[in-house]
Amino acid sequence: EKGGHDYFMLKEIQEQPAAVADTLLGHFDAGRIVLDEQRLSDQELRDVDKVFVVACGSAYHSGLLAKYAIEHWTRLPVEVELASEFRYRDPVLDRSTLVVAISQSGETADTLEAVRHAKDQKARVLAVCNTNGSQIPREADAVLYTRAGPEIGVASTKAFLAQVTANYLVGLALAQARGTKYPDEVAREYRDLEAMPELVARVLQTVEPVRALARELAHSPTVLFLGRHVGYPVALEGALKLKELAYIHAEGFAAGELKHGPIALIEEGLPVIVVMPSPKGRAVLHSKLVSNIQEIKARGARTIVIAEEGDEAVRAHADHLIEIPAAPSLLQPLLSTVPLQVFAAEVAQTRGYDVDKPRNLAKSVTVE
Ligand code: F6R
Repeated sequence: EKGGHDYFMLKEIQEQPAAVADTLLGHFDAGRIVLDEQRLSDQELRDVDKVFVVACGSAYHSGLLAKYAIEHWTRLPVEVELASEFRYRDPVLDRSTLVVAISQSGETADTLEAVRHAKDQKARVLAVCNTNGSQIPREADAVLYTRAGPEIGVASTKAFLAQVTANYLVGLALAQARGTKYPDEVAREYRDLEAMPELVARVLQTVEPVRALARELAHSPTVLFLGRHVGYPVALEGALKLKELAYIHAEGFAAGELKHGPIALIEEGLPVIVVMPSPKGRAVLHSKLVSNIQEIKARGARTIVIAEEGDEAVRAHADHLIEIPAAPSLLQPLLSTVPLQVFAAEVAQTRGYDVDKPRNLAKSVTVE
C-alpha cells in the first residue's frame, strides 16, 4: 500500500501531480471558477472588502502564498494569520470580511476556534479543506475541497500542494465575483494552473541529486532557507519540513532581511538553501538574490540554489544547483517546494528516523 516506497510520505510526495490535478478538477466549469459549497450569495461574495487567512503550520504557509495571489488578482487587502494568534487578538471583522480557513484535516482546534470567533463577529467564512464532512467545512459559509486524497504521513506534502492550488482557485473566484479579472483572464490563469501537474512530475523525475546532497548534509547542525516574494513562504515550508522530520534546527528568512540580522549567523560551511525567483519574470528580485548569495558565499556559506532552468546568472554562485522548470511567478512554489520535501525526507531517513511519524507530532491537532 506504500506503492513500493518505504514510507507513506515518499509515496505521497510522488502523488503530488495528481493531488494538484484532482484539486483543479470540477472547479472550472463553463468558463467560471466554482466552489464546492456556497451558502452565501454572489452579492455577498462581491461585497467582501477584506480577507483574513487563518491556518496553522504548513497550511499557514499555503495561506501566505494565497496573499500574493489574492491581492494581485482582486486588489482586496489580505492578512494572513496563525489561527492560534488570530482569536486571541481583537481582529477587526464585520459582515463584509471574508475569513479563509485552510485545514487539511478540517479538525484542527486552533483553526476551528478561529472560524467560530470570525462567525461571532459576523464575518463570512470560506473553508479550504481536504476532508469531506469534517467540522471546519461544516461550520463555513463556503467550501472549496482540496482533493489530495488521504494523507498518512504526519508531515504535510501533497495536502500542502493541493492547498496552494485551492487557495489560488479561491483568489480567482473572488476576482471573478468582483470583476477585477475578465472571464478570459480568469480562464488564462486557470489554464496556467492546469499545466502545473506535468511540471511537478518533471521536478519529481529530477530529484535524485537532491537525495545525494541530503545524505551528504544529513549531519549539519543547522540549515538556513532564503527566499523572496513567493519564495519566502517556500523557505519557511522547507525549514518546517526539515525541523519536523529530521529534528535539525532550520530557519526560513525573507532574503531582504539578511542584512538586518540573520547574516550574522553565516559561518564557514553552513548550508543555505536559496529559492530563486525567475530571472525573466522577477528580474529585479532575481538580481538582489544573486547579490545575497554572493554575500553569504563570501562568508563561507555552502549555497544550495533552487533556480529556473537556464538561469545562467546564478550558476556561478551555487555550490549545488537544483533546476526546476519555468512557470508563472505565482505558481513557482508548486515546483520549488518539492525538492525541499525530498531533501527533508532523505535527511531524516539517513539519520534513521521514521519519516511518517516524527517524534512528538500528531497528524491532526484537535486540542489548542
Ligand atoms: C506540517 C504539518 C502541520 C499541519 C498543521 C495544520 O507538515 O503537517 O503543520 O499543516 O498542523 O493541519 P491542518 O491542515 O489539518 O489544519
